[in-house]
Amino acid sequence: MKNSNAMILGSVLLGGILVFSLYGIGSSIASGNFEHRDDDDDSHYESRKHSSNRNYNPVTNKLYTEECGSCHMAYPPQLLPPESWGKMMDNLQDHFGESAEVDDETRINIGNFLVYSSTPQRGSYRKMLRNIGQRIPLRITQLPYFVHEHDEIPSRFIQGNDKVGSLSQCNACHRGAEKGSFDEDNIFIPGFGRWDD
Ligand code: HEC
Ligand code: HEC
Repeated sequence: MKNSNAMILGSVLLGGILVFSLYGIGSSIASGNFEHRDDDDDSHYESRKHSSNRNYNPVTNKLYTEECGSCHMAYPPQLLPPESWGKMMDNLQDHFGESAEVDDETRINIGNFLVYSSTPQRGSYRKMLRNIGQRIPLRITQLPYFVHEHDEIPSRFIQGNDKVGSLSQCNACHRGAEKGSFDEDNIFIPGFGRWDD
């Protein structure tokens, strides 16, 4: 108990430092803390067959799901590195061509939550963060691992499909997405059916 409390406190502090630095001061501190992101033993994505994406908790932060879950699902924070969330939260007035602005307090609270929760060493969503190097991506759908997983899906299932529209709508196909699960065995393309590969 004591230990885990200490760890949580440590992470919160770390998250705090990151947000602080991401909002303008000393971002080198931030990247320094996460330079081990790419040190997974190999880059053979196929090894996913032997590991599991199952151990994820649903996103339960209400403020986040309410403010950020109306135009698309509230993405699990682990799908982007902390620096990405910081950068995104700093520019909500121009959010992929739309305004997703919130008041300052809300912005800082959500930003803290996202940065703290995305600490990559926790859990195996970190495969998503492979091979991004020093970049600060704003799109999950452009991460190398994501592209690798989705590049064989015909566009008539996505852009050509009213019920999907874009790959950003994870939960249109991944039936467990809201619960934090993107397992291959629970994918259903609306209007087309179960995905069997
Ligand atoms: C007014 C609607 C709206 C709100 C509210 C909104 N977003 Fe978005 N968001 C968008 C649009 C539009 C896109 C681009 C989707 C696309 O390309 O199909 C997007 C994309 C994203 C992406 C990248 C998805 C990808 O393609 O990989 C992330 C991450 C994201 N939003 C996070 C957030 C966060 C965090 C919040 C809350 C602060 C938020 N969004 C609130 C409209 C919104
Ligand atoms: C058009 C439907 C569709 C959308 C939208 C979609 N995916 Fe997928 N996703 C798939 C399919 C199909 C596969 C399996 C590809 C294969 O079999 O190789 C997949 C695979 C995955 C995998 C690997 C699963 C595993 O068990 O290894 C992850 C992780 C994933 N998607 C996450 C996401 C996230 C996050 C989003 C939203 C940002 C998203 N997907 C949006 C259809 C979709």
